Amino acid sequence: MEDTLQQNWTPTSWLEKPVKQLPEYPNKEALEKSFKTLRNLPPLVTSWEIEALKNKLAQVSQGKAFLLHAGDCAESFSLTNSPKIVNMVKVLLQTSFILIHEMGVPVVRLGRIAGQYAKPRSKDFEDVNGEQIHNYRGDLINGFEATKETRTPDPQRLIEGYHKAGLTLNFLRALADEGFADLHHPEQWELNFMKNNEYYQEYEDMVTSITKAVRFVDAISPERSTMLQKVDFYTSHEALNLYYDSAQTRQVPRKPGFYNLSAHMVWLGNRTRDLQDAHVEYFRGIENPIGIKVGPPFTIDDTLKLIETLNPTHETGKLVLITRFGKDKIEKQLPGLIQAVRREGFPVVWSSDPMHGNTFSSSNDYKTRNFDHILGEIKSAFDIHRAEGSYLGSVHLELTGDNVTECVGGANGTKEADLDMNYETFCDPRLNYEQSLEMAFLVAKEWKQSYL
Ligand code: PEP
Ligand code: CO
Repeated sequence: MEDTLQQNWTPTSWLEKPVKQLPEYPNKEALEKSFKTLRNLPPLVTSWEIEALKNKLAQVSQGKAFLLHAGDCAESFSLTNSPKIVNMVKVLLQTSFILIHEMGVPVVRLGRIAGQYAKPRSKDFEDVNGEQIHNYRGDLINGFEATKETRTPDPQRLIEGYHKAGLTLNFLRALADEGFADLHHPEQWELNFMKNNEYYQEYEDMVTSITKAVRFVDAISPERSTMLQKVDFYTSHEALNLYYDSAQTRQVPRKPGFYNLSAHMVWLGNRTRDLQDAHVEYFRGIENPIGIKVGPPFTIDDTLKLIETLNPTHETGKLVLITRFGKDKIEKQLPGLIQAVRREGFPVVWSSDPMHGNTFSSSNDYKTRNFDHILGEIKSAFDIHRAEGSYLGSVHLELTGDNVTECVGGANGTKEADLDMNYETFCDPRLNYEQSLEMAFLVAKEWKQSYL
């Protein structure tokens, strides 16, 4: 038996532990039935791909590559359609090209996609017309409509989630394989919004330079240029609904251990990382790379124990520590954590999530984020890592390829009064297409200042 499998770990040993953020399913029989069905459906990803991602993350932790981890806060079943997926793939590819071009190192693309359907909530219940109904917890658990029936946790959604993830992944793989990753078309770069920005010239030069580089490779070798069209793309979600994730956690031939075959990487949310709880029990037994969200409230001691529990063999490329303190707290909280992790000799990929500590309510009552606050946390993260002699190898962003109005600020100047124009998110506010490209450009600038 493997180390990680000792002490009676099984894909369902978490059932013996206290669980947070996962409501009771009233219909136990239906839950059992869905779980069994899901357990017998084919895997969405393979152990080979998972191991390949782990190797790439090991490169990131050694400062030789960068990880772009980004996508929707919550995907929804009803928006599993062509334009949404195409736009998401487009924005993820273009932001990654900006990073590659500016940084000159390989960029690992990891989407919050094809399974990001379950959400933690601060309140379990919501009062609707005097009645207490379950809060919306993402399409994998219940429906958005505020009625008692729709909000009751429904196990059939586990199966629907699997199918929606499969459809998304299928299209994603096709787009990444054939043509869409094609860099030959500068017209796919929509730049006009940057016109009034101080960086416009630099930005335009960068796109021209990417296009030129592609033409050059084309001219010297047509075959190599076809290679350019194929890109790697990995998937991830928060493994919050443990029924979904454990039903897809399996052994594979000729490899030790258990793999969660629903995604390449899964992450542990900020609200479910108590050492004694079900989520940590589940995560400690899987071979996949794991993200850990770390933000208030946390202690350095507990974080070190968590790292040791989830990666007792100190495998490189296994853990991504995703810090999300908020722009005002990061200065106080990040340096000590970096020092402690280094003192213990834990190999981790450091990632900055500048989204989840910087959410606020606008004066017109929208949940929003300010582009400058997001950038502020990223800048502080780079400054602190540089000062500590540590490598910040990743950013974690909530974004979309659509022209939504959910975050304020950026070169396109979205204001609070504009938020109701196209506010779509089911959960947290995302950077829109233009804000995402601009952010990638500014992230690359910070990285260059820190590490070149
Ligand atoms: C999220 O990533 O959408 C999320 C809920 O994050 P956190 O667990 O850090 O609050
Ligand atoms: Co979110």
